[in-house]
Amino acid sequence: MALDIVIMAAGQGTRMKSKRPKVLHQLAGRPLLQHVLHAAAGLGAEGIVVITGHGAEQVEAAVSAPHLSFVRQMPQLGTGHAVQQAVPKLHAEGTTLILNGDVPLIEAATARALIEACGGMRLALLTVDLADPSGYGRIVRGDPAGRGAVEGGRVHAIREHKDASPSERLITEVYTGAMAAPTALLKRWLAALKNDNVQHEYYLTDVVAMAVNEGVPVVTAQPASETEVLGVNSPLQLAELERRLQRRQAETLMETGVRLVDPERFDQRGELRCGADVDIDVNCIFEGTVVLGHDVRIGANCVIRNAIIADGVVIHPFTHIDGEALGVRVGAGSLIGPFARLRPGAVLAEDVHIGNFVEVKNSTLARGAKANHLAYLGDATVGERVNYGAGSITANYDGANKHRTVIGADVHVGSNCVLVAPVTLGDGATIGGGSTIAKDAPAGQLTVARSKQVSLAGWKRPVKKAK
Ligand code: UD1
Ligand code: CA
Repeated sequence: MALDIVIMAAGQGTRMKSKRPKVLHQLAGRPLLQHVLHAAAGLGAEGIVVITGHGAEQVEAAVSAPHLSFVRQMPQLGTGHAVQQAVPKLHAEGTTLILNGDVPLIEAATARALIEACGGMRLALLTVDLADPSGYGRIVRGDPAGRGAVEGGRVHAIREHKDASPSERLITEVYTGAMAAPTALLKRWLAALKNDNVQHEYYLTDVVAMAVNEGVPVVTAQPASETEVLGVNSPLQLAELERRLQRRQAETLMETGVRLVDPERFDQRGELRCGADVDIDVNCIFEGTVVLGHDVRIGANCVIRNAIIADGVVIHPFTHIDGEALGVRVGAGSLIGPFARLRPGAVLAEDVHIGNFVEVKNSTLARGAKANHLAYLGDATVGERVNYGAGSITANYDGANKHRTVIGADVHVGSNCVLVAPVTLGDGATIGGGSTIAKDAPAGQLTVARSKQVSLAGWKRPVKKAK
């Protein structure tokens, strides 16, 4: 039986007070809507339809999923009106699951339970009991003939907060915004919606009373945790959900043996894979795809994005690694930081040392190479055991083009050297401190390129003239 999924994402999100469409605000580095699509992607739907409206173009460009299509809702006349726009895209038979684009942490398992509860013939609502239900649509149970709400009775309506009577407002079971319905019935009900309510909107939730009238069973399912059904309407709610999600990710990692010094001070915005015996100190941020081998230690306050870090690497505090599209690789046993910066295309072999205030970009460093202080290596090929002195840089850019610097094995570059690329330093060469090297340096020799030191014996310091 066909499964269709409709995700409502046309609303403005006024309380975010932002020009960005609400569903594009970021949670753990991905748009809210992308989280919903991620859960939806695991359900085997034939089609996923996202209803866009506010910022439609931006939203449509920012997310992706298999079998995804968009329909626009202009203007936005309510949740029922939103789903009406998707009707032409839905199959004739089967089940339609409706989700909210701003309720990001719904789990695929919960959605599956809702679809099962529907079973292609019942109307299934995802509900939750809230200590403070204000603002939500209430699940009204009991006798539709008017003997009032009865706890635990059959569902006969969802009453929107604004339309609810004082006694209905006491109900704590609320509609979360997710439902699964038989598609053929849903289409008929949607066509019959009216907007004769306080907000003059077409309420999707009015389909419940229609189902009851037709004798279609209305059933409910509950999420495993309240977090799954929390919506984002304000920056505060966004931050609260971020913390809940980060906590959940931290716990998942720790269950595999990763030692986080403080799971409350850990941020994963993407995929993080870790080997055994990994230690991560506080305030580290992992973005994109990061792979940490066995026995890796990450000091406090590191930001690491798109990088592969091999076994036994120690990354000292305040190190910034950003592989962007090219990636960064750090070989086994290497020591990085504190205050190091590895940029796209930095490829380090085993036992490389990169110390404080050293920047490496688009360069390969062979086994045992060291750049321990205040240096820049850009577009360079660095041989084994090279020692690259403090304050030395590759001048890799002539203002128009980038050029390579090739440094052979066992080269010793003194302090404060400028290597003007393209240039090659032969194996075992030594470069005297303070040299500007614009021509190749032969292997095994000392090359110095600076003016000779002179001392003037008769020289006198100037003295202040008397007035
Ligand atoms: C809705 C439910 C309410 C439920 C609550 C859960 C209705 C009538 N009410 O209320 O019972 O407790 O969600 O959060 O459905 N949207 C559109 N087009 C529109 C209107 C809304 O796409 O014309 C989208 C919004 O972007 C949002 C979702 O639908 O993603 C829900 O809309 P919202 O206005 O937040 O619904 P509530 O009034 O909170
Ligand atoms: Ca509303």
